[in-house]
Amino acid sequence: MDKSAWEDRTWWLLVGGRRRLGRELAQALAMGHNLILTSSRSWDQEGAWIAELSKQTQVRCLLWDAASPDLVPTMMADLAALGAEGVKVNSCVVVAGTFPESPLGSWTAASLEDTWRMNLSFPLLAAQQVAPHMADGGCIQFLLDTAIHRPFSRRLPYTAAKCGVAALVPGLARVLAPRVRVVGHALGTVLPDAAEDAAALASRSLLRAVGAPEDLLRALRYAASSPYLTGEILTLDGGTRWV
Ligand SMILES: NC(=O)c1ccc[n+]([C@@H]2O[C@H](COP(=O)([O-])OP(=O)(O)OC[C@H]3O[C@@H](n4cnc5c(N)ncnc54)[C@H](OP(=O)(O)O)[C@@H]3O)[C@@H](O)[C@H]2O)c1
Repeated sequence: MDKSAWEDRTWWLLVGGRRRLGRELAQALAMGHNLILTSSRSWDQEGAWIAELSKQTQVRCLLWDAASPDLVPTMMADLAALGAEGVKVNSCVVVAGTFPESPLGSWTAASLEDTWRMNLSFPLLAAQQVAPHMADGGCIQFLLDTAIHRPFSRRLPYTAAKCGVAALVPGLARVLAPRVRVVGHALGTVLPDAAEDAAALASRSLLRAVGAPEDLLRALRYAASSPYLTGEILTLDGGTRWV
């Protein structure tokens, strides 16, 4: 394989690229793009699949833990090191998040802080740190949730955090324009937890279906390759919001 051709590939940064959706995206994007993947955990146990990815493209694995007091300096140092290698990020997808069930009555200051940290502060800090390292015309993309249209009553703090990021998509687009674009994706179920009843989830959408990671991938590629698109939220939920 002619690895010199990899030098011309665009770089995708997946914030939260180690497991579940992040990993699905990494494996699909590796055919044509260079990858920067972050995780809150050590990459030591991930040797086998990272080795497979590395046969297809250039891969860099970073440790970014939303709970670490050193998060911002770590991000700055990692991005500076990549910049010194000549890497410019063309697409940054903020995948990481948590999905805590937290009905009214169970909230505590600590549980709310945890939810804000993972689903609101971390995406914003990642965007702030990555933006200066983006290539001209690059796109920062946030994974949101169809809950921003119709709140999940047992997950109101999660919904509030996603609404917070959604509200900032046009604001960030204004602040970062014209050099960098910003897009959000309000997702219905595209990768259910093993414990979830996929048929029941499907029955709650207009299309009577759950989505798949490929649906998200298509939307991410569309946003990445659409130079006239910024400040928008694309909803990809099989019509769940309209039921
Ligand atoms: N799955 C769906 O169908 C669906 C539907 C609607 C919206 N979404 C959104 O899509 C995104 C990904 O969904 P998913 O199902 O793959 O989510 P998930 O299981 O909640 O994934 C959690 C992600 O967050 C990262 N993470 C966890 N703790 C972290 C920490 N302390 N610091 C940094 N990163 C941390 C995890 O990576 P490490 O453990 O490697 O750190 C992992 O990449 C989420 O934002 C979710 O809200 C998903």
